[in-house]
Amino acid sequence: MNKKIFIANWKMYRSFAESIAWAAQHTQEIAILAEHNTIIICPEFTALAPLGEQFKETSIKLGAQNCSEQSQPGAFTGQVAAQSLKEVGCTYCIVGHWEQYHYQGETIIKVAARAQALLAVDIQPIICVHEQNLDEQLEAILSLNAPSLIIAYEPTKSIGTGKIPPISALQTAIDTIHSKIATALPSGNFSLVYGGSVMPDTIKQLTTLKHIDGFLIGCASLDFQKFKNIVTLTV
Ligand code: PGA
Repeated sequence: MNKKIFIANWKMYRSFAESIAWAAQHTQEIAILAEHNTIIICPEFTALAPLGEQFKETSIKLGAQNCSEQSQPGAFTGQVAAQSLKEVGCTYCIVGHWEQYHYQGETIIKVAARAQALLAVDIQPIICVHEQNLDEQLEAILSLNAPSLIIAYEPTKSIGTGKIPPISALQTAIDTIHSKIATALPSGNFSLVYGGSVMPDTIKQLTTLKHIDGFLIGCASLDFQKFKNIVTLTV
């Protein structure tokens, strides 16, 4: 059986110092969970290098929350290159998060370019999709010709609200995404994860979803006990 994927997206909640303190306190316990699951911790940029060091001898994976769409070094003030993420130990990176669309004017074209820049340095992009223009987002993802894909479906109304859609509606949306991707990628080399208000309260219902290989966890991943509960209630 494939390992379940748990992506902890700390967003901009936890500072550099707080991230380091968290890692010092919890690495050992998370490492035990990471022996049987794919656990990906995504702190803000400044904390990536020290957490990369901390996780080095463990199975915990390090992920960034975004990266530049530029694949070559250059005059791109304020951007962070995929190559740098690689050098500090990232093996995953979230791209196309709804909050990037909402606050930073993200575009589908840029998300595809970010994913391409990551693939060029062997970082696995975790490509978020949401319900608006979903077909266009999926087409852009499929045009990447990536050797393997992780797609995170996040209904926008569920992000940070504590509410998930009715399970039957969610399953319908997931079935549609799954069949589109499975038809285009008969190799089956892709994972579909769900994100949006994944919490100890909602996880039991969410684990009934078919075609879901894991979860993208925002707020609840900040609380160690809640995160651990989500992982242990799923498997
Ligand atoms: P949430 O965030 O779990 O706080 O809803 C999920 C995400 O979008 O990362």
